[in-house]
Amino acid sequence: MSEKVCEVKNLTYMYPKSDKGVKNVSLYVNKGSIVGLLGESGCGKSTLAKCISSQLKADSGEIICQKIGYVFQDNYASLNPSKKVGWLLKETIRYSNPAEFENSDEIIKSILEDVELDSTVLEHLPNELSGGQRQRIGIAMALLSNPDILIADEPVSALDVTVQKQVIKLIKKLNESKNLAILFISHDIKVVREICNYIYIIKDGEVVEEGDSEDLFTHPSTEYTKNLLDSSYLENINV
Ligand SMILES: Nc1ncnc2c1ncn2[C@@H]1O[C@H](COP(=O)(O)OP(=O)(O)OP(=O)(O)O)[C@@H](O)[C@H]1O
Ligand SMILES: [Mg+2]
Repeated sequence: MSEKVCEVKNLTYMYPKSDKGVKNVSLYVNKGSIVGLLGESGCGKSTLAKCISSQLKADSGEIICQKIGYVFQDNYASLNPSKKVGWLLKETIRYSNPAEFENSDEIIKSILEDVELDSTVLEHLPNELSGGQRQRIGIAMALLSNPDILIADEPVSALDVTVQKQVIKLIKKLNESKNLAILFISHDIKVVREICNYIYIIKDGEVVEEGDSEDLFTHPSTEYTKNLLDSSYLENINV
Protein backbone atom coordinates (compact mmCIF):
# COMPACT_ATOMS: atom_id res chain seq x y z
CA MET A 1 0.00 0.00 0.00
CA SER A 2 1.24 3.50 -0.80
CA GLU A 3 2.35 5.81 1.95
CA LYS A 4 0.05 8.80 2.53
CA VAL A 5 1.98 12.07 2.85
CA CYS A 6 -1.15 14.07 3.55
CA GLU A 7 -4.60 13.14 4.77
CA VAL A 8 -7.57 15.34 5.54
CA LYS A 9 -10.60 13.93 7.33
CA ASN A 10 -13.97 15.71 7.52
CA LEU A 11 -12.44 19.17 7.44
CA THR A 12 -14.84 22.07 7.91
CA TYR A 13 -13.97 25.74 7.95
CA MET A 14 -16.51 28.55 7.56
CA TYR A 15 -15.54 32.21 7.30
CA PRO A 16 -16.92 34.13 10.28
CA LYS A 17 -20.48 35.40 9.76
CA SER A 18 -20.57 33.84 6.31
CA ASP A 19 -21.92 30.77 4.56
CA LYS A 20 -18.67 30.43 2.58
CA GLY A 21 -15.90 28.01 3.36
CA VAL A 22 -15.21 24.28 3.07
CA LYS A 23 -17.54 21.61 4.37
CA ASN A 24 -16.69 18.13 5.53
CA VAL A 25 -13.86 17.59 3.04
CA SER A 26 -11.87 14.36 3.12
CA LEU A 27 -8.95 13.67 0.82
CA TYR A 28 -5.50 12.16 0.76
CA VAL A 29 -2.31 12.38 -1.26
CA ASN A 30 0.02 9.40 -1.65
CA LYS A 31 3.78 9.72 -1.78
CA GLY A 32 4.91 10.55 -5.29
CA SER A 33 1.47 11.29 -6.70
CA ILE A 34 -0.01 14.46 -8.17
CA VAL A 35 -3.52 15.07 -6.89
CA GLY A 36 -5.73 17.78 -8.35
CA LEU A 37 -8.31 20.02 -6.70
CA LEU A 38 -10.53 21.32 -9.45
CA GLY A 39 -13.51 23.63 -9.28
CA GLU A 40 -14.76 26.97 -10.47
CA SER A 41 -13.65 30.26 -9.03
CA GLY A 42 -14.90 30.81 -5.46
CA CYS A 43 -15.65 27.14 -4.73
CA GLY A 44 -13.21 27.03 -1.81
CA LYS A 45 -9.95 25.62 -3.23
CA SER A 46 -7.64 28.22 -1.69
CA THR A 47 -9.55 28.09 1.60
CA LEU A 48 -8.96 24.33 1.71
CA ALA A 49 -5.26 24.77 0.86
CA LYS A 50 -4.88 27.40 3.59
CA CYS A 51 -6.50 25.07 6.14
CA ILE A 52 -4.26 22.16 5.17
CA SER A 53 -1.16 24.38 5.48
CA SER A 54 -2.36 25.90 8.79
CA GLN A 55 -2.77 29.42 7.42
CA LEU A 56 -6.39 29.07 8.55
CA LYS A 57 -7.47 27.06 11.56
CA ALA A 58 -10.15 24.50 10.69
CA ASP A 59 -13.38 24.55 12.74
CA SER A 60 -13.40 20.76 12.85
CA GLY A 61 -11.82 17.71 11.27
CA GLU A 62 -8.37 16.23 11.13
CA ILE A 63 -5.27 17.09 9.08
CA ILE A 64 -2.31 14.73 9.10
CA CYS A 65 0.40 16.02 6.81
CA GLN A 66 4.12 15.63 6.44
CA LYS A 67 6.22 18.69 5.68
CA ILE A 68 4.49 21.09 3.28
CA GLY A 69 6.03 23.47 0.74
CA TYR A 70 3.59 26.11 -0.54
CA VAL A 71 3.59 27.63 -4.02
CA PHE A 72 1.42 30.73 -4.47
CA GLN A 73 -0.50 31.77 -7.56
CA ASP A 74 0.57 35.35 -7.29
CA ASN A 75 4.12 34.87 -6.11
CA TYR A 76 4.78 38.50 -6.95
CA ALA A 77 2.77 39.41 -3.86
CA SER A 78 4.71 36.92 -1.74
CA LEU A 79 8.19 38.08 -2.81
CA ASN A 80 9.54 41.22 -1.12
CA PRO A 81 9.93 43.58 -4.11
CA SER A 82 12.86 45.49 -2.63
CA LYS A 83 15.13 42.47 -2.08
CA LYS A 84 17.24 40.62 -4.62
CA VAL A 85 16.37 36.99 -5.34
CA GLY A 86 19.64 35.76 -3.78
CA TRP A 87 18.77 37.50 -0.50
CA LEU A 88 15.21 36.15 -0.58
CA LEU A 89 16.42 32.57 -1.05
CA LYS A 90 19.02 32.90 1.69
CA GLU A 91 16.51 34.33 4.16
CA THR A 92 14.12 31.50 3.32
CA ILE A 93 16.82 29.00 4.31
CA ARG A 94 17.54 30.93 7.51
CA TYR A 95 13.84 30.71 8.37
CA SER A 96 12.81 27.29 7.09
CA ASN A 97 16.01 25.27 7.41
CA PRO A 98 18.27 27.08 9.92
CA ALA A 99 20.43 24.02 10.61
CA GLU A 100 21.63 24.21 6.99
CA PHE A 101 22.15 27.97 6.86
CA GLU A 102 25.93 27.71 6.72
CA ASN A 103 25.59 25.65 3.51
CA SER A 104 23.13 28.08 1.95
CA ASP A 105 25.29 28.91 -1.10
CA GLU A 106 25.52 25.27 -2.12
CA ILE A 107 21.85 24.66 -1.37
CA ILE A 108 20.86 27.64 -3.53
CA LYS A 109 23.10 26.45 -6.36
CA SER A 110 21.50 23.01 -6.37
CA ILE A 111 17.95 24.35 -6.01
CA LEU A 112 18.49 26.70 -8.99
CA GLU A 113 19.55 23.64 -11.02
CA ASP A 114 16.36 21.89 -9.88
CA VAL A 115 14.20 24.74 -11.16
CA GLU A 116 16.36 25.24 -14.28
CA LEU A 117 17.50 28.80 -13.64
CA ASP A 118 21.04 30.09 -13.84
CA SER A 119 22.73 32.00 -11.07
CA THR A 120 22.36 35.41 -12.73
CA VAL A 121 18.79 35.57 -11.33
CA LEU A 122 20.25 35.91 -7.83
CA GLU A 123 21.34 39.47 -8.57
CA HIS A 124 17.89 40.56 -9.77
CA LEU A 125 14.90 42.06 -8.02
CA PRO A 126 11.66 40.04 -8.44
CA ASN A 127 10.18 42.63 -10.84
CA GLU A 128 13.20 42.25 -13.13
CA LEU A 129 12.29 38.61 -13.81
CA SER A 130 9.73 37.21 -16.24
CA GLY A 131 6.54 35.68 -14.84
CA GLY A 132 7.86 32.19 -15.56
CA GLN A 133 11.20 32.88 -13.87
CA ARG A 134 9.39 34.34 -10.87
CA GLN A 135 7.23 31.26 -10.54
CA ARG A 136 10.38 29.08 -10.70
CA ILE A 137 11.75 31.15 -7.82
CA GLY A 138 8.44 30.61 -5.98
CA ILE A 139 8.87 26.86 -6.49
CA ALA A 140 12.54 27.06 -5.41
CA MET A 141 11.50 28.81 -2.20
CA ALA A 142 8.94 26.11 -1.49
CA LEU A 143 11.57 23.41 -2.08
CA LEU A 144 14.09 24.96 0.31
CA SER A 145 12.41 23.42 3.36
CA ASN A 146 12.77 19.91 1.86
CA PRO A 147 9.02 19.32 1.77
CA ASP A 148 7.32 15.93 1.41
CA ILE A 149 4.41 17.57 -0.40
CA LEU A 150 4.06 20.74 -2.45
CA ILE A 151 0.74 22.53 -2.26
CA ALA A 152 0.58 24.53 -5.45
CA ASP A 153 -2.39 26.93 -5.51
CA GLU A 154 -3.01 27.92 -9.13
CA PRO A 155 0.74 27.91 -9.83
CA VAL A 156 0.38 28.61 -13.54
CA SER A 157 -2.83 30.66 -13.76
CA ALA A 158 -0.99 33.97 -13.99
CA LEU A 159 1.22 32.74 -16.85
CA ASP A 160 0.63 32.67 -20.59
CA VAL A 161 0.04 29.30 -22.19
CA THR A 162 3.59 28.63 -23.45
CA VAL A 163 5.12 29.46 -20.08
CA GLN A 164 2.38 27.44 -18.35
CA LYS A 165 3.53 24.38 -20.28
CA GLN A 166 7.16 24.89 -19.23
CA VAL A 167 6.27 25.30 -15.55
CA ILE A 168 3.97 22.24 -15.67
CA LYS A 169 6.84 20.26 -17.21
CA LEU A 170 9.08 21.43 -14.36
CA ILE A 171 6.52 20.42 -11.71
CA LYS A 172 6.23 16.97 -13.34
CA LYS A 173 10.01 16.63 -13.39
CA LEU A 174 10.27 17.53 -9.68
CA ASN A 175 7.52 15.04 -8.92
CA GLU A 176 9.38 12.26 -10.73
CA SER A 177 12.97 13.05 -9.78
CA LYS A 178 12.28 13.71 -6.08
CA ASN A 179 9.23 11.45 -5.69
CA LEU A 180 7.61 14.63 -4.38
CA ALA A 181 3.87 14.54 -3.79
CA ILE A 182 1.91 17.48 -5.17
CA LEU A 183 -1.53 18.88 -4.38
CA PHE A 184 -2.21 20.83 -7.54
CA ILE A 185 -5.00 23.39 -7.38
CA SER A 186 -6.58 24.81 -10.48
CA HIS A 187 -9.79 25.92 -12.11
CA ASP A 188 -8.33 24.94 -15.49
CA ILE A 189 -9.44 21.50 -16.53
CA LYS A 190 -6.86 21.20 -19.31
CA VAL A 191 -3.99 21.88 -16.93
CA VAL A 192 -5.34 19.46 -14.32
CA ARG A 193 -5.86 16.75 -16.91
CA GLU A 194 -2.31 17.14 -18.14
CA ILE A 195 -0.63 16.75 -14.79
CA CYS A 196 -2.80 14.99 -12.19
CA ASN A 197 -3.12 11.27 -11.41
CA TYR A 198 -6.17 11.65 -9.18
CA ILE A 199 -8.68 14.47 -8.96
CA TYR A 200 -11.16 15.88 -6.46
CA ILE A 201 -13.91 18.09 -7.83
CA ILE A 202 -15.01 20.85 -5.44
CA LYS A 203 -18.31 22.70 -5.57
CA ASP A 204 -19.57 25.19 -2.98
CA GLY A 205 -16.91 24.05 -0.52
CA GLU A 206 -17.65 20.33 -0.83
CA VAL A 207 -16.09 17.42 -2.70
CA VAL A 208 -18.77 16.37 -5.19
CA GLU A 209 -16.77 13.83 -7.15
CA GLU A 210 -13.36 12.17 -7.13
CA GLY A 211 -11.49 9.62 -9.17
CA ASP A 212 -8.51 8.62 -11.27
CA SER A 213 -7.84 11.32 -13.78
CA GLU A 214 -8.75 9.51 -16.98
CA ASP A 215 -11.81 7.75 -15.47
CA LEU A 216 -13.14 11.03 -14.22
CA PHE A 217 -12.65 12.78 -17.52
CA THR A 218 -14.12 9.97 -19.60
CA HIS A 219 -16.98 9.05 -17.23
CA PRO A 220 -17.93 12.07 -15.13
CA SER A 221 -20.76 11.10 -12.79
CA THR A 222 -22.16 14.48 -11.74
CA GLU A 223 -23.74 17.22 -13.81
CA TYR A 224 -21.31 19.69 -12.27
CA THR A 225 -18.28 17.78 -13.56
CA LYS A 226 -19.93 17.33 -16.96
CA ASN A 227 -20.41 21.09 -17.09
CA LEU A 228 -16.81 21.69 -16.05
CA LEU A 229 -15.75 19.43 -18.90
CA ASP A 230 -17.69 21.53 -21.34
CA SER A 231 -14.99 23.92 -22.43
CA SER A 232 -17.39 26.59 -23.61
CA TYR A 233 -18.93 26.64 -20.14
CA LEU A 234 -15.46 26.90 -18.61
CA GLU A 235 -14.49 29.74 -20.87
CA ASN A 236 -17.62 31.57 -19.84
CA ILE A 237 -16.92 31.34 -16.14
CA ASN A 238 -13.21 32.07 -16.28
CA VAL A 239 -13.15 35.35 -18.13
N1 LIG B 1 -11.78 36.30 4.30
C1 LIG B 1 -12.95 35.90 3.78
N2 LIG B 1 -14.12 36.19 4.38
C2 LIG B 1 -15.30 35.77 3.88
N3 LIG B 1 -15.41 35.06 2.74
C3 LIG B 1 -14.28 34.74 2.09
C4 LIG B 1 -12.98 35.14 2.56
N4 LIG B 1 -12.04 34.68 1.70
C5 LIG B 1 -12.72 34.02 0.74
N5 LIG B 1 -14.06 34.05 0.97
C6 LIG B 1 -15.12 33.43 0.16
O1 LIG B 1 -15.01 32.03 0.28
C7 LIG B 1 -15.28 31.41 -0.97
C8 LIG B 1 -14.13 30.50 -1.35
O2 LIG B 1 -13.00 31.31 -1.63
P1 LIG B 1 -11.64 30.68 -2.16
O3 LIG B 1 -10.66 31.77 -2.26
O4 LIG B 1 -11.29 29.51 -1.32
O5 LIG B 1 -12.08 30.17 -3.61
P2 LIG B 1 -11.20 29.52 -4.78
O6 LIG B 1 -11.87 28.24 -5.15
O7 LIG B 1 -9.78 29.46 -4.35
O8 LIG B 1 -11.38 30.58 -5.97
P3 LIG B 1 -10.36 31.03 -7.14
O9 LIG B 1 -10.40 29.94 -8.19
O10 LIG B 1 -10.95 32.30 -7.64
O11 LIG B 1 -9.00 31.21 -6.52
C9 LIG B 1 -15.54 32.53 -1.97
O12 LIG B 1 -16.92 32.70 -2.12
C10 LIG B 1 -14.92 33.74 -1.31
O13 LIG B 1 -15.59 34.92 -1.68
MG1 LIG C 1 -8.03 30.38 -5.08
